[in-house]
Amino acid sequence: MNYETEVVDGRVATENGPCKTGIEELDKGLGGGISLGSAVLMPGSSGSGKTTLCMQFLINGAKQGKRGIFFTATEPLFKLTKNMEGFSFYDKKLIESGMINLIDLRIISERLGLDMEKYTAEDASALLDVLRDIVDELDVKRLVIDSVTALCYRLQTKEMIRDFVFKLGSSLAAMNCTSIFTSEVPPQVFQYSQYGVEEFIADGIIMLGDIERKGDLIRTFQIIKMRGIAHHRTKFAMNISSKNGIELAPLLKSQE
Ligand SMILES: Nc1ncnc2c1ncn2[C@@H]1O[C@H](COP(=O)(O)OP(=O)(O)OP(=O)(O)O)[C@@H](O)[C@H]1O
Ligand SMILES: [Mg+2]
Repeated sequence: MNYETEVVDGRVATENGPCKTGIEELDKGLGGGISLGSAVLMPGSSGSGKTTLCMQFLINGAKQGKRGIFFTATEPLFKLTKNMEGFSFYDKKLIESGMINLIDLRIISERLGLDMEKYTAEDASALLDVLRDIVDELDVKRLVIDSVTALCYRLQTKEMIRDFVFKLGSSLAAMNCTSIFTSEVPPQVFQYSQYGVEEFIADGIIMLGDIERKGDLIRTFQIIKMRGIAHHRTKFAMNISSKNGIELAPLLKSQE
């Protein structure tokens, strides 16, 4: 399948208007999509659908000619691709052609010679430079870090986390790169992040969760904040299917 890319002066043309995720109800809820260059935090408990939604966001972007990058810190690449092959939205050719780049953050850390457990301020700065360079050189328009929790775990203080996430978000915005940072939170707890600072730096928060009803766990989806956009904060039921990937439908009051 061929996807068209608009190129200006050798670089992918900047999107006009919002960054369309291709997830219908999400785009509708945001009046077209995520604001260009925003950094969105996506908290969700284990199995809530963070990785799947992020990959669908990148794949949909690549199909519109926008190059994407997926930094994983939670699953090895071979497992990630194997899991995604079960979805019909997944197109292996987009990875092979370089429209989507999958990078294991641990490999970058290793190549930079960073301590795998704890980063110093210099380590954090070196990592930041490498991430910026990759985004710039590859002309990336959509970026995912899965998860920012695993990355922040290596930073030693809240100040370092705040500084790192803020600088990363600012650099990506300057490059018109729209990003999603997943955040690991405990199940059925209304909490956005592990360290309590990530949510204040993010431009938006999209929360994935689950509620229990008659012994079933129903996945939920809710836009909590999106700076600069008037949006609803309706809780949706989120379904994951091989055929359509992420599907959202208003949560029936009786399901709550
Ligand atoms: N091919 C598929 N078709 C339908 N549903 C699937 C398919 N593959 C995975 N799932 C569902 O998606 C869930 C995993 O979603 P995902 O990996 O995106 O969650 P996550 O929030 O990233 O989890 P984690 O916190 O463990 O990283 C599985 O538990 C399963 O219910
Ligand atoms: Mg995941």
